[in-house]
Amino acid sequence: MMYHEFAQFYDQLMDGFSYEDAYNFINEYALNKGKNFKNILELACGTGNFTRELIADDRKIKAVDLSDDMLAIAENKLRNTGVEFFKMDMKDFIFDEKFDLIISTCDSFNYILSKDDLKIVLKNVYKHLEDDGLFIFDLNSQYKFEGFEKIYIDEFDDVFYTWENFYDKKDRINMYSLNFFVRKGDLYDRFYEEHYERAYPHEEVIEMLKEIGFNNIDSYNDYESNKELETANRIVYIVSK
Ligand SMILES: C[S@@+](CC[C@H](N)C(=O)[O-])C[C@H]1O[C@@H](n2cnc3c(N)ncnc32)[C@H](O)[C@@H]1O
Repeated sequence: MMYHEFAQFYDQLMDGFSYEDAYNFINEYALNKGKNFKNILELACGTGNFTRELIADDRKIKAVDLSDDMLAIAENKLRNTGVEFFKMDMKDFIFDEKFDLIISTCDSFNYILSKDDLKIVLKNVYKHLEDDGLFIFDLNSQYKFEGFEKIYIDEFDDVFYTWENFYDKKDRINMYSLNFFVRKGDLYDRFYEEHYERAYPHEEVIEMLKEIGFNNIDSYNDYESNKELETANRIVYIVSK
């Protein structure tokens, strides 16, 4: 199972990523353009780090994830903030309302492993988006997967971990094999998870977005103003309906 025990280490592993900077970028390049984004849906919210950035007095926020463990951490972190959490799959989430902004950060969409399924997710987003709404998501790029180190080894606090990447160039699926060793006195508890992410070439993503009916497709090299995508590790898409 993915994001089970790993959930408790997720925030430490994301230490190098600034959710605040990502939010500031989105605010400057998309949200701060006249419209008021009052009704927001976050897909694959994880432990709620980006959700926290979205919180503002006049906003209603709903956040969805598939993992009980990630959701439990998010709910605990954002207690009494008014954010509503739901255990749902991005592929078939359903709400009887539409949203001004639908957003998903940090390569959650790479977890959708086939083009057909990604189309289903994108169609579902389209259905739930207000006519003048915005949709923002990011993807780890094919360039990143192709250049991955085979293995990372690191430690933090009482946790030692190994992170191995197995990328299949043909089907463009990367398997992360994660081992965590957590010190318990003189011994270590071991937790193991396998995660799968798929790379989608940029042109293929643009084609899918257009086919579904999205407009004004804008893309950036990570959460930065740079639009040079060839060597981007993460591509951020900002699109409207
Ligand atoms: C890399 S984490 C990103 C979490 C969060 N968006 C962030 O920025 O930190 C990927 C998340 O996607 C969730 N996820 C993967 N597949 C999903 C699906 N089909 N539906 C909903 N959530 C999914 C996982 O449970 C995990 O919380």
